[in-house]
Amino acid sequence: MHEDFPNGSVWLVGAGPGDPELLTRKAARLIGMADVVLYDALVGEGVLDLARVGAQLVYVGKRSGRHSRDQGSIDQLIVEAALTGARVVRLKGGDPSIFGRSAEEMTACRAAGVRVQVCPGITAASAAAASLGVSLTLRGMARRLTFVTAHARAGEALAMDWAALADPGATLAVYMGKAAAPEVATQLIGAGMAPDTPVAVIENASLPNETTVTTRLDLLPLAAKGLRGDGPALLLIGQAVGQDVPATAQAQPIATAVPAR
Ligand SMILES: C[S@@+](CC[C@H](N)C(=O)[O-])C[C@H]1O[C@@H](n2cnc3c(N)ncnc32)[C@H](O)[C@@H]1O
Repeated sequence: MHEDFPNGSVWLVGAGPGDPELLTRKAARLIGMADVVLYDALVGEGVLDLARVGAQLVYVGKRSGRHSRDQGSIDQLIVEAALTGARVVRLKGGDPSIFGRSAEEMTACRAAGVRVQVCPGITAASAAAASLGVSLTLRGMARRLTFVTAHARAGEALAMDWAALADPGATLAVYMGKAAAPEVATQLIGAGMAPDTPVAVIENASLPNETTVTTRLDLLPLAAKGLRGDGPALLLIGQAVGQDVPATAQAQPIATAVPAR
């Protein structure tokens, strides 16, 4: 019996980028123990299968333009469920602490005297780099990794420090950046980033319907137009994204991998 999940408490659990195999073992255990699971739009299908029979599964997703609940009412739902004495999992895509509104949820729990803990998850940038077969950092070339969100409030321009972001020695992971991709490219080039900086756009990273587009910064607006899917997408920008996969790491054709008799 695990004593880390008493009745009336909450775990904010990172569900990873979508592939259920990218869940941590701890996340899987907590999901299986929960009485109530409040889950996001980006939680992969197979992940919910881990909930126990009889657990209450509550969708609280909000995707851009299709908000079903505001953050305040999600905070309230979490707290109310815990105050009934239930063991509550708040299941969030990726890692709860990265653009996941986990601070608000923790604050709401603590204000109500509800114990809240966090189980980290694999963030989309890690899954995207893995899919591309690249490293997010690169010795001597990409010494800094910056996570930014390009999600602006409706009608507002993106408020970012473009000069700082246009760092040729960094890899930039832009969350929620598909719609703003043309502006991101224009602003970064305007701030001095090389137009031929490698860029990748990864949609549905780690899922069977994953798509990746690799391009260069000045061609990103054009490439973004060709992205028709409505899945979550991440932009990775920087020299590390353009690195070649070493020959030794490439899959060998079966014909050469099987020794000749
Ligand atoms: C609200 S943020 C949540 C990020 C999440 N907490 C994480 O750590 O990955 C949602 C954004 O994450 C990115 N994202 C999440 N899952 C993704 C996936 N499977 N493939 C590509 N991008 C993803 C997209 O940029 C999406 O718009």
